[in-house]
Amino acid sequence: MNGYFEMKLNLDGKRALVTGASAGIGKGAAEVLAGLGVKCVIAARRMSSLEKLKEEIIAKGGVAPIPVAVDLFEMGASIELATRANQCLGGIDVLVNAAGRSKAPSAPRNTPFDYPSQLWEKELHLNYVVIRELTFAFLPQMQKQKHGRIINITGKSEPEKLGTANPPKAAVHAWAKGLSRAIAKYGITVNEIAPGKIISEQILNNYSSEERQKYASCDIPLGYLGSPEDVGYLVAFLASSKAEYITGSVIPVDGGLKKFAF
Ligand SMILES: NC(=O)c1ccc[n+]([C@@H]2O[C@H](COP(=O)([O-])OP(=O)(O)OC[C@H]3O[C@@H](n4cnc5c(N)ncnc54)[C@H](OP(=O)(O)O)[C@@H]3O)[C@@H](O)[C@H]2O)c1
Repeated sequence: MNGYFEMKLNLDGKRALVTGASAGIGKGAAEVLAGLGVKCVIAARRMSSLEKLKEEIIAKGGVAPIPVAVDLFEMGASIELATRANQCLGGIDVLVNAAGRSKAPSAPRNTPFDYPSQLWEKELHLNYVVIRELTFAFLPQMQKQKHGRIINITGKSEPEKLGTANPPKAAVHAWAKGLSRAIAKYGITVNEIAPGKIISEQILNNYSSEERQKYASCDIPLGYLGSPEDVGYLVAFLASSKAEYITGSVIPVDGGLKKFAF
């Protein structure tokens, strides 16, 4: 170490809830955090995938996470999940909202104008309402401990076509900006990570390998799709005390995919 400092994230012993941890970005975030010593509650619908992740993390020497099965489409599920996480961990330091999706598996690629209203609402619920409910469920405890990190996985704000996930992501950005100003005095930060094209379950399901290749060569300046861990590393940084001066921000992890500077 030189005379300045050593960049250590010091996450050992912290507690986190990671939603959407059975696949993709949430899984990558949970792996990185657990590898850095964070005790995580990992949540999603598929318990078998969560159990598998738990075994993988243990095998690699990370802190064993606690899987919790939950369907966040269900009304009241976010509050039940928050209660379970608090019971398991005695409170949390970090909330990673990664459950979500760009579109329902059965949804048409180009959303038609007559796409049913209740399906638009469903995406709004998962991609915005759940994030808001979970955050508010943990805020009293974070305010009391005068520390907290809320990290929302959203998306780039440059919709190229009509999509059910775009309005909720924009809602999260606007809501979190206002929230960041209200909770800063408690040592709590809230930030968004906007992934570009990250190899995840939904990307593998929605894009053929030729389409992914075309995307990589035509749209991503770095020339390849990112990995869930690429997002996980930023999650870990934002979760650490080294990021205490960053709040109310939307930070892309996209290999340069975002086209516009402002
Ligand atoms: N990958 C990208 O390139 C990309 C780009 C822009 C934005 N994003 C955003 O990043 C977030 C994560 O996406 P991803 O690509 O990692 O997706 P993914 O691989 O499909 O993973 C989605 C996760 O959300 C969970 N989930 C979905 N519905 C749920 C429900 N009703 N209740 C509980 N958990 C639920 C899934 O678990 P279960 O199925 O087991 O419930 C899974 O763990 C999403 O908000 C997505 O819009 C991703």
